[in-house]
Amino acid sequence: MKTYKIFRQISWALVLLNGHYGWTSENSSFPKGFAWCAATAAHQIEGGNSNSDWWEWETSGHTRSGDRSGAACDDWNRYAEDVQLLKDLGVTRYRLSVEWARIEPTSGHFDLQALRHYKDEIILLRKAGISPLVTLHHFTLPLWFAKNGGWEWEGAPAVFARYVTAVRDALEDEVQDWITFNEPSIFLSLGYLDGKFPPGKKDAAALGRALTQVMKSHALAYHILHDGKVAQSGKKIRVGLANAVLVLDPKISWSPIDKLLAHSADKKFNWAIPESLNTGVLKFSIPFQVSINLPIQGLQGAEDFFGLNYYTRNLVGFSFSAPHFISIAPVEALDSTHRSDLGWEIYPEGFYRAMKTAHELKPDLPIMITENGIADAEDSRRKDFVTSHLQQVLRAIQDKIPVEGYCYWSLLDNFEWNDGFSPRFGLYKMDYATQKRTLRPSGIFYGEVIKKNSL
Ligand code: GAL
Repeated sequence: MKTYKIFRQISWALVLLNGHYGWTSENSSFPKGFAWCAATAAHQIEGGNSNSDWWEWETSGHTRSGDRSGAACDDWNRYAEDVQLLKDLGVTRYRLSVEWARIEPTSGHFDLQALRHYKDEIILLRKAGISPLVTLHHFTLPLWFAKNGGWEWEGAPAVFARYVTAVRDALEDEVQDWITFNEPSIFLSLGYLDGKFPPGKKDAAALGRALTQVMKSHALAYHILHDGKVAQSGKKIRVGLANAVLVLDPKISWSPIDKLLAHSADKKFNWAIPESLNTGVLKFSIPFQVSINLPIQGLQGAEDFFGLNYYTRNLVGFSFSAPHFISIAPVEALDSTHRSDLGWEIYPEGFYRAMKTAHELKPDLPIMITENGIADAEDSRRKDFVTSHLQQVLRAIQDKIPVEGYCYWSLLDNFEWNDGFSPRFGLYKMDYATQKRTLRPSGIFYGEVIKKNSL
């Protein structure tokens, strides 16, 4: 009896220690069927997306280094090679986006060859045992749509619905999992408040209008996808959003003002959109500038999984010199082992917090990690980054947070929006001059994790 008690106490001590200080081989395993994934987006890898608002943005000199997406990774012509890269890696899921600007180059005219191209790519993926997770809007727009007023345009949801219907009809036989919008909070705040993405506005009222049309578009798209003949015939399809979660903490941890500002920024930036899907009412305000409290038809419950993109945290503080007296910035003075090439803090704890908060808000939804990765040209931190972040996924799973899979961003180095080609996020290194792809050591490591289904 005594021996049993001692044994039990030691076991508990091991369990507790383990929770805090590390992982045994037993709990470094992922659940059977965990989805291993890599992510990309059309404009960032395909090349030649000349009918889009981003192409125009780049051509008019808006990117930091003057870089233009140009041929990017030429994935439009090399997709078969890229499917092979995914196969070599061993992933079971691939997050890709289809490009609206290619599919509908002029209003109401659909390019059947472009749709066929995506269908061929997806068929190839499926043959390789990889299921597609297809994003319908990943930042870029057809030029004609942008010229009509983009997301501020009241006609936007109907036109987006027409596009989604065309994509659904072309691809529904092959696709079960859809993402309507990638990171609405990011492209809307950068495009309408900071002026750093097209359309380059700094106008809170415009932000409010655009957010409204995006959420209306999401609601329509959700139902259109579920109303397709494949879904109606009983095949399960799932639709979600890829939500950006940027962990926001007070700059001065004891300052009540910074705490208040961080809390409010967190609510608005990270959780206003997910909350609107819970209630069906879009609530968003910036004092004295915009105030929205709008029920949206079909919005409530219009998601079947929670897509979560997590990279880093920022600190929020009161500052006389910042716009609206609020500074939002990465932790300062981090040495290079604790930040990415873009200066983003490596903060795995924040990943756990993001998953936990998402689960508290959406207790009934599975969580799919739709993006997580690091810009690391030397490949000196990526292996540790992936390890420490996957440890947080295991921790979440152990805490009964239903995380079903993980997409590393990105399969390949690619065109990183305003930062051009210099940030290197890829598991595969790109030589843009020759279009040669080379698996990095961290990519080999990721492949081993996938194979073992374990860290
Ligand atoms: C996300 C975005 C991706 C990629 C990534 C890395 O915000 O969805 O397209 O750019 O950041 O910066």
